[in-house]
Amino acid sequence: MNEYDSEVMAGILKREGYALAKVAEEAELVLLNTCSVRQHAEDKVFSKLGELKRLKDKQPEMKIGVAGCLAERMKEELFVQIPHLDFILGPSHIKNLPEILKNIEDGKKKIAVTGEAQLPQVEKEVLRQNNLSAYLPITFGCSHFCSYCIVPYVRGGQRSKGMEVILKEAEELTKRGYKEIILLGQQVNAYGQDLGNQINLAFLLRELDVIEGLERIRFITAHPSKIDNGLIEAMSECQRVCEHIHLPLQSGSDEVLGRMERGYTRDEYLEIIKKLRQTIPEISITTDIIVGFPGENSTDFEATLELISQIRFDGAFMFKYSPRPETKAATLPNQIEEEVKRERLSRLIEVQNRITKEKNRELVGQKEEVLVTSSNPKIPTEIMGKTRTNKVVFLEGSQDLVGELLEVEIISSSTWHLKGKKR
Ligand code: 5AD
Ligand code: SF4
Repeated sequence: MNEYDSEVMAGILKREGYALAKVAEEAELVLLNTCSVRQHAEDKVFSKLGELKRLKDKQPEMKIGVAGCLAERMKEELFVQIPHLDFILGPSHIKNLPEILKNIEDGKKKIAVTGEAQLPQVEKEVLRQNNLSAYLPITFGCSHFCSYCIVPYVRGGQRSKGMEVILKEAEELTKRGYKEIILLGQQVNAYGQDLGNQINLAFLLRELDVIEGLERIRFITAHPSKIDNGLIEAMSECQRVCEHIHLPLQSGSDEVLGRMERGYTRDEYLEIIKKLRQTIPEISITTDIIVGFPGENSTDFEATLELISQIRFDGAFMFKYSPRPETKAATLPNQIEEEVKRERLSRLIEVQNRITKEKNRELVGQKEEVLVTSSNPKIPTEIMGKTRTNKVVFLEGSQDLVGELLEVEIISSSTWHLKGKKR
């Protein structure tokens, strides 16, 4: 979602007459889009802002803005900590960017636009990173309030886009040559719950599936408590919907899941995996895991290791728990020491990476449909792309194959990618 927001801001800036600078030293305006989901992400912003201070000391006319979730979380307090900052823009107020820039040009100082907003308008001039695969947000914000998560505080409650609007956007993107659409939402499968008209993700997928010329449909991120048979059937029956789901598990311990307020148990999660694999045998399943949540003891952690070994995810993003201001979990007793978190994370990564590597090895000799997205930046004679199951594949080939769907035989594998050859 953050990447999409950056594309929207880049589009607005272009419309306002700005062009991309190659390096910060050459920029008149530096706009940082930020994430607040873990402390580490915020630390990186502060260190970047420190570097920018040195540049601004040399070029005082440079304007610096902070957008995104950190802007929303800290609001005007950011001006106190970062005196060289010119403006602050919350993630629900991106459309105000031109007005802010105009006010700054007119000599106004220290502008902050934050606070919860209505449904953002549909942006027409998004400066997308490529012309094959497009993000298309369908919900904004989140109303789940997992006890560790800052998103509902900084992005507000869930607001769904109308289905007609989404279908029109998807049709336009397809007409402009996009082959793949990635539907975005914090809980993308809660789509429609706030609209009160029976429309849900399964229904939307079926409508998108008939758009002529669209090759692939993906959606991120799904929430386990809202996977129903209707969605699994739609995934299986819709030709263009890819055989991949990102389904954050977070923990394999029922006690921890309860305190996280995730809304499912380990057995319920397993049941969903079973149904997904029964209905869509080739599906790849990826996940997110947090270690060191308050009160997580070694039995809880072993339960997570045991569960990931049983499920055998195709891949996982793994994190140390990071206490976030305002959230319930930050005030829970028995916070875990950094050293223990670090040790658990490295054990988890070791187990999961072995599984990822093994799962990739199982694909050697198989045929896969690959959407070629670019040439390999490291090896000019190679191109790269993704399978329907969202795995990266490198293969020999020339630049003019970019945008093609190729049938590829997988010839070797590693933890992070596959190698293939055109059939
Ligand atoms: N600490 C660590 N990881 C977190 N995530 C969300 N909030 C936190 C937190 N406070 C992780 C979850 C989520 C992913 C996007 O980030 O695993 O699925
Ligand atoms: Fe955060 Fe939970 Fe909402 Fe995901 S579902 S954005 S983890 S509150």
